[in-house]
Amino acid sequence: MSAETVFTYGAPQLKFGAGASDEVGYDLSQLGATRVLVVTDAGVAATGLPQRVADQMGRFGIEATVFDGSRVEPTDESMQRAIDFARDAGPFDAYVAVGGGSSIDTAKAVNLMTTNPGELMDYINVPVGRGEAPSKPLKPLVAVPTTAGTGSESTTVCVLDVLSLKVKTGISHPRLRPMLAVIDPTLTVTQPPTVTAASGMDILCHALESYTARWYTTYDKKQPEQRVPYCGSNPIADMWSEKAMALLGRSFRRAVRDGSDLEARNDMALAATFAGMGFGNAGVHIPHANGYPIAGRVRDFQPRDYPAGEPMVPHGMSVSLTAPAAFRFTFEASPERHLRAAALLDPAAGGSGGSAETLPSVVTDLMRDIDIPNGIAAVGYLASDVDDLVEGSLKQQRLLATCPREVTADDLAGIFRSSLELW
Ligand SMILES: NC(=O)c1ccc[n+]([C@@H]2O[C@H](COP(=O)([O-])OP(=O)(O)OC[C@H]3O[C@@H](n4cnc5c(N)ncnc54)[C@H](O)[C@@H]3O)[C@@H](O)[C@H]2O)c1
Ligand SMILES: [Zn+2]
Repeated sequence: MSAETVFTYGAPQLKFGAGASDEVGYDLSQLGATRVLVVTDAGVAATGLPQRVADQMGRFGIEATVFDGSRVEPTDESMQRAIDFARDAGPFDAYVAVGGGSSIDTAKAVNLMTTNPGELMDYINVPVGRGEAPSKPLKPLVAVPTTAGTGSESTTVCVLDVLSLKVKTGISHPRLRPMLAVIDPTLTVTQPPTVTAASGMDILCHALESYTARWYTTYDKKQPEQRVPYCGSNPIADMWSEKAMALLGRSFRRAVRDGSDLEARNDMALAATFAGMGFGNAGVHIPHANGYPIAGRVRDFQPRDYPAGEPMVPHGMSVSLTAPAAFRFTFEASPERHLRAAALLDPAAGGSGGSAETLPSVVTDLMRDIDIPNGIAAVGYLASDVDDLVEGSLKQQRLLATCPREVTADDLAGIFRSSLELW
């Protein structure tokens, strides 16, 4: 096999800035849309934002229906309910998602399953599902994020929990990418502090994992039909990841401390967008692979500021908890990248005197300051759960393949064990 020489870069059209979400009605009219489904969740619906977006459409003769039943951290069952709703109330000729990653991913699944035959399992990644590619084009999807986090508005991925298998997995195909991402930082000011902190840690992990991902030329050369959206770190993804880290370094703590700080909210929304454009093409590795079983096997942890009565470890929290240990492990693959990342996040860190501890300690300090739980023990896991967690991570082979070092079950067990308590 010869070495890869090619990387790819994909991104949706973007509209960014205060007031951008007031133009969605016009944007849809330009697409010729006449019947639109607005997909959101109950918490976001309570802010009035989705209705405000729906109300604009009338002015352009577009009939809008609002579905506010997306589950926070969607499951196959919650997505099926959304799909059933859309099939009953449809057909729609465009979709708009107003919300965080949960609503945007639900809209992606609804779009896929109202335009293509079969069932969700046909499209879910192997080995959980059958990993088929959609055979038919999807309808236009406009994604309007209300969190600064997932970057789902610019990615080709839809994440869901398969309840019967207790596993978080996804659907990944270029056709899932929204046609237009409308990022309006003013929509993010109502995020409560825990949501700001968790979704911000998701940005941080996206940027750090794609920046430290395996370099694209270290893969075997692919045939054109084998190309996947995630191709390893590369010059274009790097540029976006670096910008995202500098913005996080400047504004993350501020956005959590004072949610009404518009300058900080603007920086966080930009950082989420930049990191999405980076990881959406480079890929993520150990912290995300570990985040899936941490979230999927939750027992009774209930985070503040999330829907009451539902145990969950929110995505951004789940991916952050093993990040310090993961970057200690990957350090030797590219010390200069780890130190550069540390310096971007905290200009006082990094530099020539840095070590494998530099980046983990920058990340841990930040987590403590913004009130992220102190390790996996703080969200309910014991040392005796480590083997189970490792088994869950090993199911995420697509992500682990992006790790810059080979990672074994023992390595993962060591990472989980040293993440029981972080400080
Ligand atoms: N598709 C992708 O590329 C991708 C990437 C990373 C994560 N994800 C997925 O995204 C989901 C997490 O998304 P998220 O972190 O954006 O949060 P979310 O959509 O789960 O929302 C979190 C909570 O915040 C509330 N909320 C959101 N915006 C608000 C606002 N402006 N004001 C008040 N409340 C608000 C919601 O009602 C909810 O209770 C997970 O399922 C995760 O797996 C997807
Ligand atoms: Zn993520």
